[in-house]
Amino acid sequence: MDPRHHDQIAKWERRWIAVSGLLMLGFIVLIAYSLATEGANIAQTTARGTPQSLLQQPLFSEPGLRVTGPGQVQVSLVAQAFSWMPETVRVPVGAEVEFYLTARDVIHGWQVERTNLNVEVIPGEVSRLRYTFTQPGRYRVSCNEYCGIGHQNMIGWIEVLPASQWAAAQEEPAAAEQGSASTAAIGAEVYVRNCSSCHGPAGAGLAGAFPPLAGHAADLAALDGGRELLIDTLLYGLQGPIQVAGNNYAGVMPAWPQLGDEQIAAVLDHLLGLGAAPAEPVFRPEMVTERRGQGLSADQVHTYRQEVVGR
Ligand code: CUA
Repeated sequence: MDPRHHDQIAKWERRWIAVSGLLMLGFIVLIAYSLATEGANIAQTTARGTPQSLLQQPLFSEPGLRVTGPGQVQVSLVAQAFSWMPETVRVPVGAEVEFYLTARDVIHGWQVERTNLNVEVIPGEVSRLRYTFTQPGRYRVSCNEYCGIGHQNMIGWIEVLPASQWAAAQEEPAAAEQGSASTAAIGAEVYVRNCSSCHGPAGAGLAGAFPPLAGHAADLAALDGGRELLIDTLLYGLQGPIQVAGNNYAGVMPAWPQLGDEQIAAVLDHLLGLGAAPAEPVFRPEMVTERRGQGLSADQVHTYRQEVVGR
């Protein structure tokens, strides 16, 4: 090679190395600057396992808030397509909140508005981080990693309340549960909170992804073993391609074991009502109790569905 060409190449190589070095330096300065001015909230991985084994731990089998000491609370959250469990958490202002997060199905991103809380939530991993809210208010939680067709509906809330109001609010849900909310009202509420983001407010479904429930749920319930199938689908989820009225659906139905037996029975009756309302309740909480604890997988429910529909 002509030595002049060689020099030319070497000169450009040095320039490019200098540019990449400066870029690196720029990034390091920016990271250091944001750590210094915004503070760091970096999640620690505290446990690893199969998603199933983590979800069976008391922390996640009943996710939510626990008071761990004066001015200290613990909040556990489960992310799943396409919701946060629980959807709303209330914490007192100024308290040290210890968050534990895990995912049931795929990777989600937990981001709390107006804070620098932003954590990747990974199935089979538990992330922990601490945070203290200094301003009361309602903070929107969104998912910032694309997790499927209903990703944009994955919204939750953190309500930060003054201590006295928070203490009062802690009493509230228990009182509400004791109240005699009708089964129909419970069913409608569970549906709106958990099902409507995928299956639509009136149960029309979404072509190619989520089957319609209006009419279809009632058709299934009329089949031999169909009621058990519907209960299992809620308790354990369903994974695999299905056909409804000649259309194919490939969405994944998450499991909802965190819903109570009464809630599951109520929402199933609500589903039947999306077509023509049943005169009498069809699903009873005892029927759900009976199907719980079988430890089925979403694949097994799919196999069971093929059996029931093929009968
Ligand atoms: Cu969960 Cu996007």
